[in-house]
Amino acid sequence: MNKKTISKINLFFSGLLGRMEENRDFFKDITIQFKSGTKIFPAKITQNDTITLDYQAVKRETDKNGLWDILAEEFLKYDEAKIIYTERGAKIVIDANDKKVNMRHEDAVEAAPQTSVVQTGREYVVNPALAKELLTEIGILAKNGKIKNDKIRKYNQIDYFVELMGGVLKEIGERDEYVILDAACGKSYLSFVLNFYLREILKKKCRFIGVDYSKTVIDASKRMAKNLGYNNMEFIQEDLTTWTPNVRPDIVVSLHACDTATDMALGLGIRSQSRAIVSVPCCHKDILKQYSYEPFEPIMKYGILKARLADTLTDGIRAAYLESMGYKVSMIEYISPLETPKNIMIRAVYTGKKSAKAKEDYENLKKILHVEPAIERFLKEKHGFKITMGEEHDYGC
Ligand SMILES: C[S@@+](CC[C@H](N)C(=O)[O-])C[C@H]1O[C@@H](n2cnc3c(N)ncnc32)[C@H](O)[C@@H]1O
Repeated sequence: MNKKTISKINLFFSGLLGRMEENRDFFKDITIQFKSGTKIFPAKITQNDTITLDYQAVKRETDKNGLWDILAEEFLKYDEAKIIYTERGAKIVIDANDKKVNMRHEDAVEAAPQTSVVQTGREYVVNPALAKELLTEIGILAKNGKIKNDKIRKYNQIDYFVELMGGVLKEIGERDEYVILDAACGKSYLSFVLNFYLREILKKKCRFIGVDYSKTVIDASKRMAKNLGYNNMEFIQEDLTTWTPNVRPDIVVSLHACDTATDMALGLGIRSQSRAIVSVPCCHKDILKQYSYEPFEPIMKYGILKARLADTLTDGIRAAYLESMGYKVSMIEYISPLETPKNIMIRAVYTGKKSAKAKEDYENLKKILHVEPAIERFLKEKHGFKITMGEEHDYGC
């Protein structure tokens, strides 16, 4: 190609490099196909701390200027070139030869094949066909592109969870970058799918912090994020009881954190001043072990009924505590009990208005049920937290 063509390519290409830097978290790679007759010579550009050019079996570390110097020399040697810039959710293609230099945008998200309309009959919010690379990496999809049988329920739960996040996002309002904290993240299925939803479907900038005290699941989550090139996700091996993030989360999410781990997740949301907390609790043992209520003795003598009542009491007590801490709470059955009996979702959005009524209700519940709820216990013992009325926290909402 001649110098005039190459200077046109340079104009487009420097725009791409600017975008690569700006969208560091989203950027995947730039590939170049140098063409001479019918032969194609590929090159690949990736970015970590420096820019790496992988060309003719040699990997070279360079910067933007150095990269262009090498490429400009190469363009001179070939008749045509195709440059493909890929970031999550977007693809830009430049076709260049001495007759024309064209740039066009393509949607990097493939069209969903018909087969992706779901095993449950419900249309997924994060359609597995669109998120194929992600769902294969995290072990939800089998090689044939179908959801693995033993993962269908899990995926359904996650997808419903993700769907309901739409309302929460609206309530907390537009943010430059959403910081989402997944408390008791396990293998972080929820975070990975939510990240895809925010970045690739809603096109929002976001950052994820997954916390779990199990090294195995944290190592697995880190590995999957690395394989997927998700630089905006970090995973931390810590105990929720004591760990405090160094950033104010926009949303603390928690899916099936066992027993009091849910209380710790809610507590973490409160003490880190999260703008919203969305939690689907798991088993409820703490209140079950403690509570008694004489008028209900004829019911509670049946163990199963005492346990079911304890589930409801536990979440009701959690809600009163959250309200007393300035959160507006809603409680929904977020998925059919056929998918999971652990199907109550607690959604709490920070309003800054601490409710005196909720504090009174909460204290009354404690008294009549003879309980010391875990949520308050942990906050008091580990973090010196008290419910104080009339004193507003400056949460900068
Ligand atoms: C049932 S798993 C759920 C994992 C994940 N949220 C999901 O839905 O797949 C519960 C997770 O809570 C974690 N966990 C329990 N107590 C914890 C604590 N105090 N601190 C951090 N992680 C905890 C466990 O290690 C486990 O990974």
